[in-house]
This record gives sequence, structure tokens and C-alpha cells, in this order.
Amino acid sequence: MTERKPELAALRVALGCDHAGLALKQHLKGVLLQQGVQVEDLGTHDESSCDYPDYAHAVASGVAEGRFDRGLLVCGTGLGMSYAANRHAGVRAALCTNEFLARMSRAHNDANVLCLGSRVTGVGVAEAILSAFISTPFDGDRHTRRVGKIEPSGPESSKAGG
Ligand code: RB5
Repeated sequence: MTERKPELAALRVALGCDHAGLALKQHLKGVLLQQGVQVEDLGTHDESSCDYPDYAHAVASGVAEGRFDRGLLVCGTGLGMSYAANRHAGVRAALCTNEFLARMSRAHNDANVLCLGSRVTGVGVAEAILSAFISTPFDGDRHTRRVGKIEPSGPESSKAGG
């Protein structure tokens, strides 16, 4: 049965993967749809060998431009996806291998893209990570200042203290 939580139904999530991440992305897409999340799958859509940055950039630019609230990127390790996604200003891509990291990436770092490695993380753990990532709010407060300093050219980047 589809479980629709109003706050999740408002969430727009872009998905991307390479050939190595296809099966896990497809599985997680089903999980998100079951929860009523608005999902846009930007590929890849088949198992032919492809280049992970193409999908990382498609998802990350959509998040950076505000067309999506969050992104989910899956490759073999999650590493390549995170490198490419984090090149986009305003994107905070978190490579998570457990639920704690996913929760903290949201609560303290306001992460907006989740990266997973299909060759590293099993399906059950990936589901738990994704669930924590989409349901954990940003704590704000002192973390807002710190997140503001992440962008090297950001207005807060040179201020110290607190
Ligand atoms: C593909 O073989 C693999 O290199 C890719 O999925 C990813 O792990 C790169 O970081």
C-alpha cells in the first residue's frame, strides 16, 4: 500500500546513476514512489557502460537551480558521483555508508544530494540511509553559519568564531 506523508509528497527528488548503480537506483526509485515522493529519473536507463559525471552533473545542476529539493546519485562506489556533484555551487553531496552519516549530513550539513555505492552498500542499508536522508530536517542555528562557510567564495567564508 502506498504510504503518502504530506511532507514527503512535496519533495522533488532527481535520480541519477551509471550502469553500476542502475539496479540500486531502480529499487530506491520504487521505494520513493511508494512514499509518494515526486521523482524525476535523469538516467541512465539501461546497463550499457556510461560515464557517471554526465548523470552527476544533470542531477546536481537541477538541485543547484532549485528545480529539485534533493538528488540521489548511485554509482559503484558513490565516490565519482560525489566528486562531480560537489563541483556545483550550492550542492552538498554526501556519500553515506550508514544511517548515522545520512542523518548527520542532513541535520548538521544540510546535504541536498545523497550518493550511494552499489558495490559497497547493500539494498537494506541503502533503504535505511535514503529514509534518513529524506526525513531528517536541517537543524539550522549554528549550523547555518557553518554551512554558509562551505562555499569558498560565499559571504560567510572568511569569518571565524563561535
Ligand atoms: C564504474 O565501473 C565505476 O567506476 C563507477 O560506477 C564509480 O564507482 C566511480 O566512482
